[in-house]
Amino acid sequence: MAISGKTRVCGVMGDPIGHTLSPTIHNAAFHHLGLDFVFLAFHVKTADLENAMRGMRGLGIHGLNVTMPHKRAVISCLDEVDFTVRFLDSANTILNRDGKLSGFNTDGVGALKALLENGVGLSGKKVLLLGAGGAAKAIAFVLVPEVGELAILNRSAEKAEELAETLEHMFNQKVVGGALSPDAIKANLRDSDVLVNATSAGMKPHLSQSLVAPEWLRSDLAVMDIVYNPVETKLAIDAKAAGAKVVSGVEMLIYQGAASFEIWTGKSAPIEVMRKAALNKLSSKGEGK
Ligand SMILES: NC(=O)c1ccc[n+]([C@@H]2O[C@H](COP(=O)([O-])OP(=O)(O)OC[C@H]3O[C@@H](n4cnc5c(N)ncnc54)[C@H](OP(=O)(O)O)[C@@H]3O)[C@@H](O)[C@H]2O)c1
Repeated sequence: MAISGKTRVCGVMGDPIGHTLSPTIHNAAFHHLGLDFVFLAFHVKTADLENAMRGMRGLGIHGLNVTMPHKRAVISCLDEVDFTVRFLDSANTILNRDGKLSGFNTDGVGALKALLENGVGLSGKKVLLLGAGGAAKAIAFVLVPEVGELAILNRSAEKAEELAETLEHMFNQKVVGGALSPDAIKANLRDSDVLVNATSAGMKPHLSQSLVAPEWLRSDLAVMDIVYNPVETKLAIDAKAAGAKVVSGVEMLIYQGAASFEIWTGKSAPIEVMRKAALNKLSSKGEGK
């Protein structure tokens, strides 16, 4: 990669940040398109967030991805945010336009594209979403206008109920929220077309954990598990065995990254290059096993 006097700098900041896949994915994409961009990882502690954002302005850093724990706190450092960021109270992408910092959140659109681009139809379908944390909220927000019905179940029931109520009013469409229990999952799955796990259940090191019993899964169900570490979760393995269509968390990771890439570069993201780079990195780290 040749760095020039005009190279534009993008990056990801968070704490911790050592395991991020973003430099691998974005540098592969910049290289593939011959763009004079470079992508770095910045370890920024909470106490240094404001200084980091001054640095972004002062150094003319072109774009940043923002990850835990800064997605909320960073908003007060930005000049403008879009409606999605305001609703989610969370920004994961920043664009620096001549010193003006704009905030976006690409998690929801990443999940939506991961489903659609992998052939999962949503129109008129019932979707069961497990979780009501940051990622689940972003996904629910983009799914409601696309689907027939959305049910949200969460371990802390009040979070799911509150989210469902807010979305129902916002979009004037049926959204149900409730407690995540085996009975509730089983009952909801009976008439669901799509299941999305947006909890961290099944994430490394809890490889044998799944909230969904294998016998509740069917071949006419589409299942997306947004957990990408491991690449194939217990839920994904069980869903595949049941003959269901399975979309991995890596797909959401790629498409949310692609949306950020397009915000920074104005170019269509090379999805296949980004996917290959992510999967290579995950398998070289043994994360896919
Ligand atoms: N593929 C991608 O691009 C992508 C993007 C973002 C996140 N993710 C992954 O998605 C997962 C969630 O991330 P997040 O940012 O939404 O985290 P978060 O805000 O901390 O939310 C965690 C969610 O998981 C639930 N949960 C955690 N452990 C559980 C368990 N043992 N049983 C049932 N529910 C459980 C929580 O329920 P409570 O509310 O009751 O605590 C909450 O709904 C993580 O694994 C993350 O790596 C993937």
